[in-house]
Amino acid sequence: INYQPISHKIAFYPLKIKHSTMPASHSELLFSYDLISPEVQAALPQGYHLRALAHGDYERGFLKTLAVLTEVGNHSKADWMERFDYLKKHNHEYFTIVIVDPQDRVVAAGTIFVERKFVHLNGLVGHIEDIAVDGNQQGKKFGLRIIQALKFIGAKTGCYKVILDCSQKNIPFYEKCGFTHKEYEMAWYV
Ligand code: ACO
Repeated sequence: INYQPISHKIAFYPLKIKHSTMPASHSELLFSYDLISPEVQAALPQGYHLRALAHGDYERGFLKTLAVLTEVGNHSKADWMERFDYLKKHNHEYFTIVIVDPQDRVVAAGTIFVERKFVHLNGLVGHIEDIAVDGNQQGKKFGLRIIQALKFIGAKTGCYKVILDCSQKNIPFYEKCGFTHKEYEMAWYV
């Protein structure tokens, strides 16, 4: 399957909203709006927006949101840009999305990595990673919306399945998102 990123087409932000930082422009996004689910956007509370990660999300609190997951590190803007630029060069494989609140702060995030296989006739598998909802915003369906939006990207890019690893306590959450238990995770730390 030769998935190619498509150019940006849809304007997203109303012009007159007040933002604590400038809203993300198309040129700073990791990937195109074509892969953003309109159904998930429509299901968000008023003033909240779903979009691709933008390089200005360093200032909008993306790393603080990720800190609910694990240790993130003390990134300089240069550290952030090094990783962001890599992801942008590989934006047919890495899809990181965020939900921003009416003040343009990141409140939820997640990634799907699309792996190229030989099996299943050069099949594609989506790996969901790093799902995080700000500690003050949990329990408001933002986690569910992030997963729905990542499943949309997985389906649109041609994945035959989407998988993830999680702790036992998060199994009920992923079941509510439509996942079923399969296999076991193994890990080796260097
Ligand atoms: N146990 C049981 N049910 C749960 C749990 C849980 N731990 N978490 C959510 N749910 C249920 C909710 O009650 C809701 O059910 P309902 O539809 O019947 O009302 C449904 O799942 C959807 O919940 P959301 O409101 O969307 O959950 P939230 O926005 O809080 O996001 C998440 C869930 C991502 C686990 C969030 O709490 C979080 O960021 N936790 C800390 C970081 C983390 O553990 N991330 C996941 C790591 S695994 C990975 O990244 C692949």
